[in-house]
Amino acid sequence: MTHQTVYVVDFGGQYTQLIVRRVREFGVYSEMIPWTEAASRIQAHRPSAVILSGGPRSVLEAGAPTIDMDVLKGIPILGICYGQQLMALLLGGRVEKASLKEYGHRTLVPNPEVPSSLIAGMANDQVWMSHGDQVLSAPPGFVVSASTDSCPIAAFENPSANQFGVQFHPEVTHTPDGKTVLKGFLFDHAKLKADWTSESFIDEQVDSIRQTVGAGKVLCAVSGGVDSSVMAALLIKAIGERAVCVFVDHGLLRLHEADQVKETFLDHFHANLKVFDAQEQFFGALAGVTEPERKRKIIGENFVKVFEDHASELKECDFLAQGTLYPDVIESGSPTAAKIKTHHNVGGLPDWMTMKLIEPLRWLFKDEVREVGRRLGLPEEMVEREPFPGPGLGVRILGEVTRERVRMTQESDWIFRSELKERGLNKGIWQSYAGLLDVKTVGVMGDERTYEQPVVLRAVQSEDAMTARAVNIPFEVLEAIASRIVNEVHGVNRVFYDLTSKPPATIELE
Ligand code: XMP
Repeated sequence: MTHQTVYVVDFGGQYTQLIVRRVREFGVYSEMIPWTEAASRIQAHRPSAVILSGGPRSVLEAGAPTIDMDVLKGIPILGICYGQQLMALLLGGRVEKASLKEYGHRTLVPNPEVPSSLIAGMANDQVWMSHGDQVLSAPPGFVVSASTDSCPIAAFENPSANQFGVQFHPEVTHTPDGKTVLKGFLFDHAKLKADWTSESFIDEQVDSIRQTVGAGKVLCAVSGGVDSSVMAALLIKAIGERAVCVFVDHGLLRLHEADQVKETFLDHFHANLKVFDAQEQFFGALAGVTEPERKRKIIGENFVKVFEDHASELKECDFLAQGTLYPDVIESGSPTAAKIKTHHNVGGLPDWMTMKLIEPLRWLFKDEVREVGRRLGLPEEMVEREPFPGPGLGVRILGEVTRERVRMTQESDWIFRSELKERGLNKGIWQSYAGLLDVKTVGVMGDERTYEQPVVLRAVQSEDAMTARAVNIPFEVLEAIASRIVNEVHGVNRVFYDLTSKPPATIELE
């Protein structure tokens, strides 16, 4: 890539990824690198600026994570929390264990004698602190630019050497105007250009895909989800019909989603889309099966079988596209690791599918993927689609998965989600769906008793799916939705709303 790059050196801080995202939000390309690889990567690539992250250790401990300041010579540096303390220590200042750990909001007081461009422009004096050590004396050449009542050196700087440090966390939203600090560093001091945009990403990736693929073909499985849709749209832009897009229609998507995939890729993008209608196969294989893990396994195996059955058409592909995102790259530990993502729901891939991998989204965070999708002209419903499990409605229908039970689930789900959307209540929801329970309940309709199935509605807020809370939907809205579902969805006579958080529950039903 030809961008100016900011390396964020990770010392194990909980907010390191967030620093990378903030920098990118300013239109500056940024990557996270582990401290153990910092020296070699900085020497090899000479980034335009370096940010040293926070971290859980003490710089005073033997063997604490560190960095070779010599390799940073001439590169603008911003140290945050542990990063600031490390700069202090390595550049000749002093660090001590604070008498009390400081955690939470503090009021930042700028030093009136040192008008710092990073601090002076802050429109809000609240900052977020989370540290045990603190800087006792700034290194030679540095001035103290701000303090708090409990932290005498909350910010220091040596502007002529382009070196800055802050004890607080400008990257978190708890520091309401932290962006002024980051912006001042990136633009006023490191003199960066904002050249990282979705257009520039698309242009570069199109070039790079064309170079890598040459005259070859790329197999791209499309699931209807955001990542695979954006990846397919990008490949189509780069290599047209040599992007062989495959959509396995297993019948377990939400209402209208399969049609939308077909319409978008066939009508709008004129893609080389192969739709494998495997509904019979999936419903056949799932008939009579109620045990959750077996259902998952059957769904995974049948995906593989569909690809096996069409092997002759697909074997001509030289590459397999995979929707790896930047957080996966970071988690896999190495920026060059290209492992096939193994989902617990996919039972491996056929041998012939272990072709060369290409991962055109591996530099992007999810919100950047969405932005690229918009630029490429994908419909908003696709770009904003919620996370959806690989086994689809299979994990939202308790008990046997039949066409009839899928219909009830799809129709109830459609009513629930359209009602939320119409009322503007869908914003901020991580996932929302209707699932089907595996019991029958009694009801009365007209003069007759009914003995039918209940649906459960689930809507959760979450940051990362690791924890989640039920969304507080107004009672009247739930009541209106329940009434519509029992009146309009044949076979459903009762509606529950799931109030459980995760943990102890999970987001999906099984
Ligand atoms: P749970 O239900 O474990 O879900 O709280 C956490 C997140 O993972 C998704 N999920 C799955 N995704 N295959 C997938 O690809 C699965 O079998 C599966 N189960 C859960 C779920 O939708 C949520 O976003």
